[in-house]
Amino acid sequence: MGIQHLTLPPVYKPGLAISELARDLHIDEASIIKLASNEAPLGPSRKAILAATQAVEKAHIYPESLASPLRNALAKKWHVLGEQITFGPGSEAVMALIAQAFLRKGDEAIVSQYAFITYELIISAYHGHIIKVPARHFAHDLNKIAKACGPKTRLIFLANPNNPTGTWFAEKDLIAFMEKIPPRIKVVLDEAYLEFVEYLPSYPQSVPLLAKFPNLIITRTFSKAYALAGLRVGYAISTADIAKQLERIRLPFNVSAPAIAAATAALSDHHHLAKIKLTVTQGRKQLAAGFDKLGLSYLPAYANFFLVKFGKQAESLYQFLLHRGLIVRPVDNYGLPTYLRITVGKIRENQKLLHALTIFLQSTHIH
Ligand SMILES: Cc1ncc(COP(=O)(O)O)c(C=O)c1O
Repeated sequence: MGIQHLTLPPVYKPGLAISELARDLHIDEASIIKLASNEAPLGPSRKAILAATQAVEKAHIYPESLASPLRNALAKKWHVLGEQITFGPGSEAVMALIAQAFLRKGDEAIVSQYAFITYELIISAYHGHIIKVPARHFAHDLNKIAKACGPKTRLIFLANPNNPTGTWFAEKDLIAFMEKIPPRIKVVLDEAYLEFVEYLPSYPQSVPLLAKFPNLIITRTFSKAYALAGLRVGYAISTADIAKQLERIRLPFNVSAPAIAAATAALSDHHHLAKIKLTVTQGRKQLAAGFDKLGLSYLPAYANFFLVKFGKQAESLYQFLLHRGLIVRPVDNYGLPTYLRITVGKIRENQKLLHALTIFLQSTHIH
């Protein structure tokens, strides 16, 4: 693939909801296993649930616009000033705010082939042109992305690690990349899966890089390792100057009070976070061993999902799994019709998935 110029994004297809499948198959919701949206394998921290519940009791009151308790906790955790943080209902909403602030009609924004599709939706929602740069071995090709910058480029989206490929880049590569990018171009560094990959020694410590690269905007979320996807809280860390520009257009009550309360409590529940990370680490090993045994090829997984190659059978396998109450994610809208993306679940859920895969592959005799 060469560089593509697109004005319309591909269609975003969310993972099938448990309630949808239960309705279609007339089966009990409780028996369905969803490994389709890279959600946490365990529910939220009890502390987060309690905090959200208490906040619901006061749901007649507007949330505090600045979300100060959460802002202060994050500022302390990441050693930044509170005014460097911008909140939104999910990190995707913060990315949309960034596009709203910095993209004008006809401006160009760069994404990598196979990058998280929402970037393209956001760029076209703000009337930008999508410049899609070919991936290299499924990963972002940072050199090519840097070379694709032109006079109309205003934004670059990078996912580290990327969804659905799980590929990631090291700090030295990020620094070398940032050195090539003109300061007028904002670089959105999406670290939605940070908590699952921070153990990798060369994974970027991105926040200190803001001092050297003020055009960097880091986005983070409570939807993944903090298990709060349904409550919708994400944030950006940037220079105070960029945050000020975002704050100017942010709707004052864009994050709900229960979401702020839950995120603040979740952030302090180190024990629960460790439990989720451990479940993911164990599940990753379990699934990798199971895929190996079945002779399947897959991309190395560092976050909480795998991209697995099933060839021409991907679609029929997807349907087969649905009928057994297992939801995984087709990625044909990424141009990957022979792959399925599988989120790491609890040990028992992973076992069920591997069992179903075994039956399917035995019945078809083709790998
Ligand atoms: C790479 C990436 N970034 C961002 C998000 C969106 O997260 P949020 O729930 O914070 O909007 C996802 C969700 O799947 C993702 O995979």
